Amino acid sequence: MKSALIVNGLSLSVPSSRGRVTVVDDISFDIPAGSKVGLVGESGSGKSLTAYSLMRLIKDPVRIDKGEIFVGGKEILGMNMKEFRHMRGNDISMIYQDPMSALNPIMRIGAQIIESIQLHTEVIHSQARKIAIELLASVGIPEPDRRIDSYPFEMSGGMLQRVVIAIALSGEPKVLIADEATTALDVTTQARVLTLIDKLAAERGLSVLLITHDLGVAAQFSDEIMVMYSGKLVERGLVNQIFSNPVHPYTKALLNSRCDYTIDVTKPINSIAGQPPRPDNRPEGCVFSPRCAHVQPQCREGVPPLISVQDRLSACFRAEELFEVGMVK
Ligand SMILES: Nc1ncnc2c1ncn2[C@@H]1O[C@H](COP(=O)(O)OP(=O)(O)O)[C@@H](O)[C@H]1O
Ligand SMILES: [Mg+2]
Repeated sequence: MKSALIVNGLSLSVPSSRGRVTVVDDISFDIPAGSKVGLVGESGSGKSLTAYSLMRLIKDPVRIDKGEIFVGGKEILGMNMKEFRHMRGNDISMIYQDPMSALNPIMRIGAQIIESIQLHTEVIHSQARKIAIELLASVGIPEPDRRIDSYPFEMSGGMLQRVVIAIALSGEPKVLIADEATTALDVTTQARVLTLIDKLAAERGLSVLLITHDLGVAAQFSDEIMVMYSGKLVERGLVNQIFSNPVHPYTKALLNSRCDYTIDVTKPINSIAGQPPRPDNRPEGCVFSPRCAHVQPQCREGVPPLISVQDRLSACFRAEELFEVGMVK
């Protein structure tokens, strides 16, 4: 299948008291055209920096040390900024976590959507207003011809996130990134917004990268899930593969530590022992080895590559073996 997005060997670093340290470590992945891929991992694992790289929003002191990113077949990191600005919004677009910070509080939402439409397409104001009303209707805003003149403070969080989605779609992008786009919303609104993104993705043939710390949200929405830990991609597979038989001990630990209604409340919740490493103190070998229930000496020596195991990808030396026996912990 054709890829809408390809990331090839992307590494990012930030300054620390010990000099520059790697926070996204040589990650490679693709998003097949028209598919929805979830990127999950604990806070600090490097998800947002990966997302910002795709939008070329990385600023000092964060740096991209190496890698290539192809959007619709075009490499964007080597492109001059003027050229990329034409692609941002038109080819690849992003929905951010906090709708209030993405919107101007003292400008009517309609004016903000119209501005975005006119940035991407040559249309006169009255036409842009018509398109804005259609966009508001498509993201499920009731009475869009009236609500278009509302200010952000007149709308609820869920409605604002719909406005932000309308703006993200105003340039008719092919790739949509949603970084914790529903995290700030209550559970019911979160489900509605996810259903909306799902519907819009199907209607518009979008390829979506859904970034979330919540494995349940990713599972509900995605075709495939990628798991990130301490700057590394450690597993990728179809949702049911990840849930039924993960082939990386970190994924298994994440599944065990999920706190939801499917968990037996009479038993304690298993949290993953220890903490993720600080970026300036990442271990040698496998980054998960200090916390891993299946660690062996080789795990502390070499870095396990992300390789194909049983129709998915795993960065664990013992993946094949653990798949055979089924992971106990
Ligand atoms: N502007 C910055 N300056 C220094 N360190 C940063 C900056 N932005 C992110 N980091 C560090 O990079 C790592 C990855 O951050 P981030 O991509 O935001 O993680 P996530 O989105 O998975 O929570 C974290 O350790 C974070 O502290
Ligand atoms: Mg983040």
